[in-house]
Amino acid sequence: MTGRASHAFRAVLVFSVVALTGCARGCTSSRPPIHINPSMFNQPKVLPQTASDFFYNGASMRDPVPGTVPVGGLKEDSAFFTGKGADGQFVATIPEPVNEALLERGSQRYTIYCQPCHDARGDGKGILYQRGNVPTASFHQEKILKYPDGQIFDVITNGQGLMPSYRWPIPAADRWAIIAYVRDLEHKRLASAPAAPAETKSPTDTKSPAETKSPTEPK
Ligand code: HEC
Repeated sequence: MTGRASHAFRAVLVFSVVALTGCARGCTSSRPPIHINPSMFNQPKVLPQTASDFFYNGASMRDPVPGTVPVGGLKEDSAFFTGKGADGQFVATIPEPVNEALLERGSQRYTIYCQPCHDARGDGKGILYQRGNVPTASFHQEKILKYPDGQIFDVITNGQGLMPSYRWPIPAADRWAIIAYVRDLEHKRLASAPAAPAETKSPTDTKSPAETKSPTEPK
């Protein structure tokens, strides 16, 4: 083909391509695309989080059967997961071996989750205390020194007074690691000042006036 015929042919070709596709690539359209071979593009199915008339509760996603336990989710060891033994009492000691690796892990987690409020040395002089004068417990006070380890686990798990619960951000194994580290902090403090553990009381501990107070502390 030459000359005019060729031009005419090309014009028809371009026109028909544009006409068939609606426009050149890049245009948007509110109409569904034309599928020459629809294959499985359109099929009845439920997408996540969509509504459904089929089920009574109107949700297409199904809840697990009550009592379902995921693999590895059977929390039978009550001491490990609640800090309480079979008798319902707080366990006295951490229910796993305390070694260097656990202390290292505890130190890291403590820095992330506890240090902002309880400070690096565990004196409770963290940001809440500095900025808001919020009474934050010292780990070196008589009361906490006497707590069974399970009770500290309970405080981390459920919160206590002004302290929020850290059940969700900190898995049980890490809570024990933190407790190992807190105990380590306490032991080191006691070892460095064996004669005067009462001096390290928190300024917040006003609940037990019977305990010795440092002379400079205001009433
Ligand atoms: C957002 C600040 C904040 C963080 C973070 C925080 N605490 Fe506390 N914690 C407090 C405050 C405030 C108190 C005093 C609560 C009260 O007596 O009302 C407290 C009290 C405590 C007590 C004493 C509870 C009692 O029975 O008197 C322990 C133990 C404790 N925290 C451990 C921890 C550990 C371990 C972590 C890290 C996992 C942690 N806290 C993280 C603010 C915090």
